[in-house]
Amino acid sequence: MSEEIALVTGASRGIGRAVADRLAAAGYRLAITSRDQLRLARAAKELGPSVFAHAADLRRSKDIAGLIKAMRNSIGEPQILINNAGIAPSGKFEKTNEEMLESSMSLHLRAPFALIRAFLPGLRAAGQGCLLQLASTAGLRGFAYTSAYCAAKHAMLGMTRSLAAELQGTAIRSYAVCPGFVDTDITRNAARSIAERQGKSEEIAMNELGAMNRIGRLHSTAEVADAVLQLCRERPVGCVYNLDAEPPCFVEEP
Ligand SMILES: NC(=O)c1ccc[n+]([C@@H]2O[C@H](COP(=O)([O-])OP(=O)(O)OC[C@H]3O[C@@H](n4cnc5c(N)ncnc54)[C@H](OP(=O)(O)O)[C@@H]3O)[C@@H](O)[C@H]2O)c1
Repeated sequence: MSEEIALVTGASRGIGRAVADRLAAAGYRLAITSRDQLRLARAAKELGPSVFAHAADLRRSKDIAGLIKAMRNSIGEPQILINNAGIAPSGKFEKTNEEMLESSMSLHLRAPFALIRAFLPGLRAAGQGCLLQLASTAGLRGFAYTSAYCAAKHAMLGMTRSLAAELQGTAIRSYAVCPGFVDTDITRNAARSIAERQGKSEEIAMNELGAMNRIGRLHSTAEVADAVLQLCRERPVGCVYNLDAEPPCFVEEP
Protein backbone atom coordinates (compact mmCIF):
# COMPACT_ATOMS: atom_id res chain seq x y z
CA MET A 1 0.00 0.00 0.00
CA SER A 2 1.19 3.51 -0.81
CA GLU A 3 0.77 6.60 1.35
CA GLU A 4 1.23 8.84 -1.66
CA ILE A 5 -1.44 11.35 -2.58
CA ALA A 6 -2.66 11.31 -6.17
CA LEU A 7 -4.67 14.13 -7.75
CA VAL A 8 -6.71 13.02 -10.77
CA THR A 9 -8.48 15.68 -12.83
CA GLY A 10 -11.61 14.76 -14.79
CA ALA A 11 -12.13 11.79 -12.48
CA SER A 12 -15.94 11.81 -12.41
CA ARG A 13 -16.25 9.52 -15.46
CA GLY A 14 -14.43 7.94 -18.40
CA ILE A 15 -10.68 7.41 -18.28
CA GLY A 16 -10.19 9.60 -15.19
CA ARG A 17 -12.67 7.54 -13.23
CA ALA A 18 -10.98 4.28 -14.27
CA VAL A 19 -7.58 5.72 -13.28
CA ALA A 20 -8.97 6.83 -9.91
CA ASP A 21 -10.40 3.31 -9.36
CA ARG A 22 -7.01 1.72 -10.09
CA LEU A 23 -5.06 4.16 -7.91
CA ALA A 24 -7.52 3.76 -5.02
CA ALA A 25 -7.26 -0.04 -5.27
CA ALA A 26 -3.46 0.27 -5.26
CA GLY A 27 -3.62 2.20 -1.98
CA TYR A 28 -2.98 5.77 -3.09
CA ARG A 29 -4.81 8.54 -1.20
CA LEU A 30 -7.00 10.21 -3.77
CA ALA A 31 -7.97 13.76 -4.61
CA ILE A 32 -10.38 14.13 -7.53
CA THR A 33 -11.85 17.01 -9.44
CA SER A 34 -14.25 17.81 -12.32
CA ARG A 35 -16.97 20.41 -12.92
CA ASP A 36 -20.15 18.52 -12.11
CA GLN A 37 -20.48 18.66 -8.32
CA LEU A 38 -23.08 15.90 -8.01
CA ARG A 39 -21.33 13.42 -10.30
CA LEU A 40 -18.04 14.16 -8.56
CA ALA A 41 -19.54 13.60 -5.09
CA ARG A 42 -21.00 10.30 -6.29
CA ALA A 43 -17.62 9.19 -7.67
CA ALA A 44 -15.87 10.17 -4.42
CA LYS A 45 -18.37 8.16 -2.39
CA GLU A 46 -17.86 5.10 -4.58
CA LEU A 47 -14.07 5.46 -4.49
CA GLY A 48 -13.81 5.31 -0.71
CA PRO A 49 -14.39 7.09 2.57
CA SER A 50 -11.40 9.45 2.63
CA VAL A 51 -11.36 10.68 -0.96
CA PHE A 52 -10.97 14.45 -1.30
CA ALA A 53 -13.25 15.94 -3.98
CA HIS A 54 -13.34 19.53 -5.14
CA ALA A 55 -15.39 20.78 -8.10
CA ALA A 56 -13.59 23.14 -10.48
CA ASP A 57 -13.83 24.27 -14.08
CA LEU A 58 -10.17 23.93 -15.00
CA ARG A 59 -10.52 26.39 -17.89
CA ARG A 60 -10.74 29.09 -15.21
CA SER A 61 -7.61 30.30 -13.36
CA LYS A 62 -9.73 31.22 -10.34
CA ASP A 63 -11.03 27.65 -10.06
CA ILE A 64 -7.51 26.21 -10.40
CA ALA A 65 -6.28 28.48 -7.59
CA GLY A 66 -9.28 27.38 -5.49
CA LEU A 67 -8.47 23.71 -6.07
CA ILE A 68 -4.80 24.15 -5.11
CA LYS A 69 -5.73 26.06 -1.95
CA ALA A 70 -8.41 23.55 -0.96
CA MET A 71 -5.96 20.67 -1.41
CA ARG A 72 -3.29 22.35 0.70
CA ASN A 73 -5.83 23.07 3.44
CA SER A 74 -7.10 19.49 3.59
CA ILE A 75 -5.37 16.47 2.08
CA GLY A 76 -2.02 18.14 1.26
CA GLU A 77 0.32 18.29 -1.76
CA PRO A 78 0.08 15.45 -4.29
CA GLN A 79 3.09 13.30 -5.17
CA ILE A 80 1.23 12.06 -8.25
CA LEU A 81 -0.57 14.46 -10.58
CA ILE A 82 -2.74 13.03 -13.37
CA ASN A 83 -3.81 15.78 -15.78
CA ASN A 84 -6.69 13.97 -17.45
CA ALA A 85 -9.65 16.38 -17.75
CA GLY A 86 -10.45 16.91 -21.40
CA ILE A 87 -12.95 17.81 -24.06
CA ALA A 88 -12.81 17.08 -27.77
CA PRO A 89 -14.35 19.84 -29.86
CA SER A 90 -14.68 18.77 -33.48
CA GLY A 91 -15.57 20.32 -36.81
CA LYS A 92 -14.07 21.42 -40.10
CA PHE A 93 -11.16 23.83 -39.76
CA GLU A 94 -13.28 26.70 -41.14
CA LYS A 95 -15.90 26.01 -38.46
CA THR A 96 -13.37 25.86 -35.61
CA ASN A 97 -13.48 29.27 -33.98
CA GLU A 98 -11.16 30.98 -31.49
CA GLU A 99 -13.43 30.12 -28.61
CA MET A 100 -13.08 26.38 -29.37
CA LEU A 101 -9.31 26.74 -29.63
CA GLU A 102 -9.13 28.78 -26.43
CA SER A 103 -11.28 26.27 -24.54
CA SER A 104 -9.15 23.34 -25.69
CA MET A 105 -5.86 25.09 -24.95
CA SER A 106 -7.09 26.18 -21.50
CA LEU A 107 -8.07 22.70 -20.46
CA HIS A 108 -5.30 20.62 -22.06
CA LEU A 109 -2.38 23.00 -21.68
CA ARG A 110 -2.94 25.93 -19.30
CA ALA A 111 -4.55 23.90 -16.52
CA PRO A 112 -1.85 21.15 -16.50
CA PHE A 113 0.81 23.87 -16.72
CA ALA A 114 -0.65 25.72 -13.70
CA LEU A 115 -1.09 22.55 -11.61
CA ILE A 116 2.44 21.35 -12.38
CA ARG A 117 3.86 24.77 -11.51
CA ALA A 118 2.00 24.68 -8.19
CA PHE A 119 3.01 21.17 -7.17
CA LEU A 120 6.51 20.75 -8.66
CA PRO A 121 8.29 22.54 -5.77
CA GLY A 122 6.86 19.91 -3.38
CA LEU A 123 8.14 17.11 -5.62
CA ARG A 124 11.55 18.77 -5.89
CA ALA A 125 11.71 18.98 -2.08
CA ALA A 126 10.72 15.30 -1.76
CA GLY A 127 13.13 14.33 -4.57
CA GLN A 128 10.53 12.19 -6.36
CA GLY A 129 7.09 12.17 -7.90
CA CYS A 130 5.08 11.64 -11.05
CA LEU A 131 3.51 14.22 -13.36
CA LEU A 132 1.38 12.49 -15.98
CA GLN A 133 -0.71 13.98 -18.78
CA LEU A 134 -3.48 12.09 -20.56
CA ALA A 135 -2.54 13.12 -24.07
CA SER A 136 -3.61 11.25 -27.22
CA THR A 137 -2.41 9.94 -30.55
CA ALA A 138 -3.90 13.31 -31.64
CA GLY A 139 -0.74 14.73 -30.03
CA LEU A 140 1.44 12.51 -32.22
CA ARG A 141 -0.22 13.06 -35.60
CA GLY A 142 -2.93 15.16 -37.20
CA PHE A 143 -6.54 13.98 -37.44
CA ALA A 144 -9.08 15.68 -39.70
CA TYR A 145 -11.85 17.78 -38.11
CA THR A 146 -10.15 18.11 -34.73
CA SER A 147 -7.67 20.96 -35.21
CA ALA A 148 -8.30 22.64 -31.83
CA TYR A 149 -7.93 19.30 -30.04
CA CYS A 150 -4.84 18.19 -32.01
CA ALA A 151 -3.18 21.58 -31.49
CA ALA A 152 -3.72 21.40 -27.73
CA LYS A 153 -2.56 17.77 -27.45
CA HIS A 154 0.59 18.54 -29.48
CA ALA A 155 1.24 21.45 -27.10
CA MET A 156 0.65 19.18 -24.13
CA LEU A 157 3.31 16.79 -25.44
CA GLY A 158 5.74 19.66 -25.98
CA MET A 159 5.36 20.79 -22.40
CA THR A 160 5.70 17.22 -21.08
CA ARG A 161 8.86 16.61 -23.11
CA SER A 162 10.43 19.88 -22.06
CA LEU A 163 9.71 19.12 -18.42
CA ALA A 164 11.14 15.60 -18.78
CA ALA A 165 14.35 17.10 -20.17
CA GLU A 166 14.59 19.47 -17.19
CA LEU A 167 13.94 16.66 -14.73
CA GLN A 168 16.52 14.31 -16.22
CA GLY A 169 18.72 12.82 -13.52
CA THR A 170 16.03 13.24 -10.83
CA ALA A 171 13.44 10.70 -9.64
CA ILE A 172 10.60 12.97 -10.75
CA ARG A 173 8.94 11.67 -13.90
CA SER A 174 7.13 13.64 -16.59
CA TYR A 175 4.93 11.36 -18.71
CA ALA A 176 2.30 11.70 -21.43
CA VAL A 177 0.13 8.67 -22.19
CA CYS A 178 -1.26 8.57 -25.75
CA PRO A 179 -4.22 6.29 -26.37
CA GLY A 180 -6.10 6.15 -29.68
CA PHE A 181 -9.91 6.22 -29.52
CA VAL A 182 -11.17 4.97 -26.13
CA ASP A 183 -14.66 3.74 -25.29
CA THR A 184 -15.91 6.83 -23.39
CA ASP A 185 -18.38 9.71 -23.77
CA ILE A 186 -15.93 11.66 -25.95
CA THR A 187 -15.86 8.88 -28.55
CA ARG A 188 -19.57 8.13 -28.17
CA ASN A 189 -20.41 11.80 -28.87
CA ALA A 190 -18.20 11.73 -31.96
CA ALA A 191 -19.84 8.48 -33.10
CA ARG A 192 -23.30 9.99 -32.57
CA SER A 193 -22.59 12.98 -34.78
CA ILE A 194 -20.95 10.80 -37.48
CA ALA A 195 -23.97 8.47 -37.35
CA GLU A 196 -26.37 11.41 -37.79
CA ARG A 197 -24.37 12.93 -40.64
CA GLN A 198 -23.75 9.69 -42.50
CA GLY A 199 -27.05 7.92 -41.75
CA LYS A 200 -25.54 4.89 -40.01
CA SER A 201 -25.92 3.40 -36.55
CA GLU A 202 -23.95 4.74 -33.59
CA GLU A 203 -22.59 1.23 -33.03
CA ILE A 204 -21.17 1.05 -36.57
CA ALA A 205 -19.67 4.54 -36.17
CA MET A 206 -18.06 3.46 -32.86
CA ASN A 207 -16.53 0.39 -34.54
CA GLU A 208 -15.23 2.53 -37.40
CA LEU A 209 -13.54 4.89 -34.94
CA GLY A 210 -11.99 1.87 -33.22
CA ALA A 211 -10.72 0.62 -36.59
CA MET A 212 -8.85 3.94 -36.98
CA ASN A 213 -6.64 2.95 -34.03
CA ARG A 214 -3.41 1.26 -35.09
CA ILE A 215 -4.42 -1.66 -32.86
CA GLY A 216 -7.65 -1.91 -34.92
CA ARG A 217 -10.17 -1.54 -32.08
CA LEU A 218 -11.23 0.86 -29.33
CA HIS A 219 -9.16 0.95 -26.15
CA SER A 220 -11.01 0.21 -22.93
CA THR A 221 -10.73 2.66 -20.03
CA ALA A 222 -9.30 -0.24 -17.96
CA GLU A 223 -6.44 -0.64 -20.43
CA VAL A 224 -5.55 3.05 -20.17
CA ALA A 225 -5.83 2.98 -16.38
CA ASP A 226 -3.55 -0.08 -16.17
CA ALA A 227 -0.87 1.74 -18.16
CA VAL A 228 -1.18 4.84 -15.97
CA LEU A 229 -0.91 2.79 -12.78
CA GLN A 230 2.11 0.92 -14.12
CA LEU A 231 3.94 4.16 -14.93
CA CYS A 232 3.05 5.70 -11.54
CA ARG A 233 4.28 2.62 -9.69
CA GLU A 234 7.35 1.61 -11.65
CA ARG A 235 8.46 5.07 -12.88
CA PRO A 236 10.53 3.84 -15.83
CA VAL A 237 12.73 6.33 -17.64
CA GLY A 238 10.79 7.62 -20.65
CA CYS A 239 8.36 10.34 -21.55
CA VAL A 240 5.71 9.88 -24.27
CA TYR A 241 4.00 6.51 -23.98
CA ASN A 242 2.10 5.35 -27.08
CA LEU A 243 -0.70 3.05 -26.03
CA ASP A 244 -1.80 2.59 -29.65
CA ALA A 245 1.29 0.55 -30.52
CA GLU A 246 1.69 -3.20 -30.28
CA PRO A 247 3.02 -3.62 -27.71
CA PRO A 248 2.52 -0.17 -26.09
CA CYS A 249 5.88 1.58 -25.75
CA PHE A 250 7.68 4.87 -25.21
CA VAL A 251 8.06 6.93 -28.37
CA GLU A 252 11.71 7.23 -29.29
CA GLU A 253 12.76 10.84 -28.63
CA PRO A 254 14.91 12.49 -31.28
N1 LIG B 1 -11.89 9.03 -25.32
C1 LIG B 1 -10.89 9.02 -26.17
O1 LIG B 1 -11.01 8.46 -27.28
C2 LIG B 1 -9.57 9.61 -25.78
C3 LIG B 1 -8.45 9.27 -26.58
C4 LIG B 1 -7.21 9.81 -26.27
C5 LIG B 1 -7.11 10.69 -25.20
N2 LIG B 1 -8.21 11.01 -24.45
C6 LIG B 1 -8.02 11.99 -23.38
O2 LIG B 1 -8.35 11.38 -22.15
C7 LIG B 1 -8.86 12.38 -21.25
C8 LIG B 1 -10.17 11.89 -20.66
O3 LIG B 1 -11.09 11.70 -21.73
P1 LIG B 1 -12.39 10.78 -21.58
O4 LIG B 1 -12.53 10.10 -22.88
O5 LIG B 1 -12.34 10.00 -20.34
O6 LIG B 1 -13.51 11.91 -21.51
P2 LIG B 1 -14.92 11.96 -20.74
O7 LIG B 1 -15.44 10.59 -20.50
O8 LIG B 1 -15.73 12.93 -21.50
O9 LIG B 1 -14.50 12.58 -19.33
C9 LIG B 1 -13.93 13.86 -19.28
C10 LIG B 1 -13.68 14.24 -17.83
O10 LIG B 1 -13.13 15.58 -17.82
C11 LIG B 1 -13.97 16.42 -17.02
N3 LIG B 1 -13.98 17.77 -17.57
C12 LIG B 1 -14.40 18.16 -18.80
N4 LIG B 1 -14.28 19.48 -18.94
C13 LIG B 1 -13.78 19.95 -17.76
C14 LIG B 1 -13.44 21.24 -17.28
N5 LIG B 1 -13.63 22.34 -18.03
N6 LIG B 1 -12.93 21.36 -16.03
C15 LIG B 1 -12.76 20.26 -15.27
N7 LIG B 1 -13.07 19.01 -15.65
C16 LIG B 1 -13.57 18.86 -16.89
C17 LIG B 1 -15.35 15.73 -17.07
O11 LIG B 1 -16.17 16.01 -15.97
P3 LIG B 1 -17.26 17.22 -15.92
O12 LIG B 1 -18.01 17.16 -17.21
O13 LIG B 1 -18.04 16.99 -14.70
O14 LIG B 1 -16.42 18.45 -15.79
C18 LIG B 1 -14.96 14.27 -17.02
O15 LIG B 1 -14.68 13.88 -15.70
C19 LIG B 1 -8.99 13.66 -22.06
O16 LIG B 1 -7.90 14.50 -21.81
C20 LIG B 1 -8.96 13.17 -23.50
O17 LIG B 1 -8.46 14.14 -24.38
C21 LIG B 1 -9.42 10.48 -24.73
